[in-house]
Order: sequence, then C-alpha cells, then structure tokens
Amino acid sequence: MPLAVTPLTRHIGAEISGVDLSCPLASADADALVRAWLDFGVIVVRGQDLDEHRQVTIARLFGELIERPRPKELRNESKRDAADSYDGYTMLVSNIRENGKPIGSLPDGEMHFHSDMSYVETPSRATVLYAIEVPKAGGDTMFASTTAAYDALDGDTRRLLAGRNALQGFLHGTTLRRDNTALKSYSHPAVRIVPETGRKALFLSRLMTFAIEDLPEKESDALLERLFTLIESPEFIYVHKWRPGDLLIWDNRSTAHARTDFDPAERRLLRRFATQGEKPVPA
Ligand code: SIN
Repeated sequence: MPLAVTPLTRHIGAEISGVDLSCPLASADADALVRAWLDFGVIVVRGQDLDEHRQVTIARLFGELIERPRPKELRNESKRDAADSYDGYTMLVSNIRENGKPIGSLPDGEMHFHSDMSYVETPSRATVLYAIEVPKAGGDTMFASTTAAYDALDGDTRRLLAGRNALQGFLHGTTLRRDNTALKSYSHPAVRIVPETGRKALFLSRLMTFAIEDLPEKESDALLERLFTLIESPEFIYVHKWRPGDLLIWDNRSTAHARTDFDPAERRLLRRFATQGEKPVPA
C-alpha cells in the first residue's frame, strides 16, 4: 500500500498510512512525511514498532536533535538511564517512578497549551513523540493550529500585534498557568512566520506566554486571554487519543499542544525527541 495522507480536521492534523517506520524509508516517502508535517502541523502514524534508533532516524528527517539533559533533581540511577544510548537527547514523558524518582522529565497530569521550549532563544522545531504505555482514559494530547488562529484574527488585532514581542517563560514543574516568576524566559515575536510555508502563526500559549511587551499590564492580560481563547477554540483543535505504537510529529512553530488529565494510578510512558529550530522569524 503506498503512503497516504488523510486530514484529521479542517485546520490541523493528518494521519499517515501505508508506511512502516521500522524499516528504511524511500526518499519519496521521507519527503512526503516532511511535507505533510509542514502542511498539517501534526502528523499521526499509528501502529508502529519503533526502537530508540529508528525513532532517532525518523526525528532527524525534521532537523538536528536537541540535547535535553534531565534536570539534576530528577536524575535517576536506574538501569533505564544507564542503558539509554541517546542519553541527553531522549526525553521520557511519563508518570512512572523508579526507585522513588520520576523516570520522566515533565510533570504529571493536565498540562496547559504551550509550544515546546518557547522560552529559549531558538525553540524546538519538531517534537517526535512515541507511545509505549498509555492509560485507559485521558492523557490525550490536544493540538491547536496557531496559523489558523492567526488567519481568523480581525484587522485591528493584527495591527496591534504587528512588530510586538511577547515574553515566554517556564518554571520547571508547572503544568498550569499561574502567577509565578519564570525560571527561564525569552522575548519572541508575538506573530512568527514559518519560513517553509510563509504562513503567519500566533506564537503565544496559555502555559508559557506571560505578557505582550510594551502594553499596560491590564491590556496585555486581557489581550492574551482573548488570544488564548481563540487558539483553544474547538474548530482549530485536533485531540489525539493515544494507543501504544502511535508516533506523532508536530511543528512547534505552527501549533501549540496541551495534555488532558488522567488517573495517576495508571501508567503513561512516551519517548520523545526534539529537533533544533531557528530563532523565530517576526511577521
Ligand atoms: C509535551 O508537552 O511534550 C507532552 C505532551 C503529552 O504528554 O501529551
């Protein structure tokens, strides 16, 4: 069966079928994966049997891997860390504890919308996430098209945002927006261009954007709340219900994602690699 690309919603997401990612890919298929990722923001490939090496090979189609050493306080002397051949590059997303410590690098439970590493100078380009164990219910990942949200803006809001920066920040361990001082932060254009498609995207998210710069605080808060609500409108969202063997690859430049809550007594284990992005190009 040849590779096929089937859109999942009107604005975001496509399922890729007719491909076995555990085997070397024909270059036309590799090109088709990257094209679909650019066009749809997130691609879903179900039923894959991937070891770490194959996942890395696929991830490298989307850029150079980013090193993500685990925060010191989370490091675990378990066998898993020792055996990890991509130590420093592999990130486990999991609620599992071994020897009393989390094996994952992200906090558990619900997570508000965000774009990976938007709080550094050169945020992630692609995130490549593979499901190994998933809970019976919940723990879904929701993806929002920030290009479709930009396209839906009225002219006044576009003019208000033009040329403005927004402050992005993240305090490790937080999953829900709170008034806190971000540990790491960086100021980026509020609207960025995805160079390969020329599309404009809102580079804003509920978890990680704290202010539109050079606006009075109240005005910035009200504008952000309005834009977060727009980005999170059901019409711009694809909700992924995970099955073991699913591989998802998303473009952090044109999408934001969030996670729904799940029963902490159930196990959830996904393996993640991320690739290096450019410094966001202002619109
Ligand atoms: C992430 O934000 O990369 C994790 C998403 C998830 O756990 O569903």
